[in-house]
Amino acid sequence: MRLLPKSCAKRWTLGGAGVLVLGAVAYGSLIESSWIETVRTVEFLPMVRPPAPDLTLVHLSDIHIGTLGRREKRAIEIINDARPDLIVLSGDLVHEGDRPRELETFLGSLHARYGKFAVWGNHDYGCRVPLTWGPGVVKRGGFTLLRNSSSAVTYAGGRIVIAGLDDAITGHDNLRLAMTRVSRKDACILVSHTPEIVSDLGNWDIDLVLAGHTHGGQVRFPLVGALWVPFGTRDHLEGWFDVPPDVRLHVSRGLGWSWLPIRFFCRPAIDIITLRAGRKPGKSTRSILGQS
Ligand SMILES: [Fe+2]
Repeated sequence: MRLLPKSCAKRWTLGGAGVLVLGAVAYGSLIESSWIETVRTVEFLPMVRPPAPDLTLVHLSDIHIGTLGRREKRAIEIINDARPDLIVLSGDLVHEGDRPRELETFLGSLHARYGKFAVWGNHDYGCRVPLTWGPGVVKRGGFTLLRNSSSAVTYAGGRIVIAGLDDAITGHDNLRLAMTRVSRKDACILVSHTPEIVSDLGNWDIDLVLAGHTHGGQVRFPLVGALWVPFGTRDHLEGWFDVPPDVRLHVSRGLGWSWLPIRFFCRPAIDIITLRAGRKPGKSTRSILGQS
């Protein structure tokens, strides 16, 4: 068998690798970055007594709104089709600081029975949005902005308090202030942009923590995993975690992107969480319903 000359084989190898890389970049930027995964889970709220009805909570994170494109329009459809009782947005609302109209349209297009809640993330502060047009836009979009504060929702099952931490990465967080109006009798959901805050929750009675920030790594490779994870991620890249003594943490991999307009083996996610009254027997209080 006649072998290719060495220089020719090298050219073919390099050419093949180049085509693979270009194909992966095209897939990650044109297809996967808009290919939303809907992740459905069930979580139990021990402080709510059965037979309270289930609540549907949509956890959105890292939407990084720039222009309103295919991904954002599909996200609106998915969220509204879920007919959520609550929508929680755990920070990084903007891509840059110059799209107030687009953010307001996106936020205003989402509907929830009992309320929509948001906290700021480090990217929002990096764009100075919380200090300029941000609060007005979030309010006009129908969201309650939680900046080290809380808001109570009353439904047939009782009272659930949503407490929101301002961004911890930029040093704006104050847990004591956020929890001031939360009673020990309340079911409490704490919202924070970064999951890192679970390392210091003190003795506060918190049932669930909802966080984002990680983008799930955004670009991942089989066997290798994420090449890079942002500061403040620790071991909580995405999904559900038990935090001793008795807190559950949910980290969303988020909807948008930062730095590079690409996602690879890490689709944008919308998390639809069914909140059920009571405590599930066994170690884990979660069961996966399905993904699509
Ligand atoms: Fe982000």
